Amino acid sequence: MSETKTTMFQVNRQPVHFGGDEKATLLSVLREELNLSGPKFGCGQGECGACMVLVDGQPQTSCNLPVWSIQGKQVTTLEGLGTPEQPHPVQTAFIEERAAQCGYCVAGIITSACALLARNPTPSRADIVLGLEKHLCRCGAQTRMLRAIERAAAETKSNS
Ligand code: FES
Ligand code: FES
Repeated sequence: MSETKTTMFQVNRQPVHFGGDEKATLLSVLREELNLSGPKFGCGQGECGACMVLVDGQPQTSCNLPVWSIQGKQVTTLEGLGTPEQPHPVQTAFIEERAAQCGYCVAGIITSACALLARNPTPSRADIVLGLEKHLCRCGAQTRMLRAIERAAAETKSNS
C-alpha cells in the first residue's frame, strides 16, 4: 500500500506540501499537480535529460527522482529560471539563435546550461559539450544550442 506522508519543498521559490503518494516522481508532481510543463517526460529512465530541473542548484533528472527524496530542498524548473519580463540570458540567447527545432529537449538543456554558467561563467565549447552530456536531442539543433550558450556567456560577461 502507498504511504501518504507529506513532503515539503519549494518549487520556483514557492512552498509545496505534497501529501499524495510519496513514491511519485518529482516529474509527475511538477507536471500533474503543479501544472508546470517545462520539464518533459522523455525516456522516464534518467537517460535523455528532457525532465532536467535544478535541485538546490544542481541539475537533476526528475523522472527518476522520488518526491520523498527532495524533502526540504529547492527545486527550479524552466519556469523559475527567469520571468517573461526578465528572462534568463540563456533563455534570451536560445530565442535569438533560434536554437530549437521541435523544442522537446530544450527546457532540460536550458536548465543544465544555466547551472553550467552559474558554476563556470566562461566555459569553453568543450566545457559546454561536457555540461550537456546527459542530454539527447533528436533534431539537428545542437550547433545552434552551443552557439546560444556561448552567446549567453559572452553577454553575461559584458554586462557584469
Ligand atoms: S525523461 Fe527523465 S531523463 Fe529522460
Ligand atoms: S530540438 Fe527536437 S529533440 Fe531537441
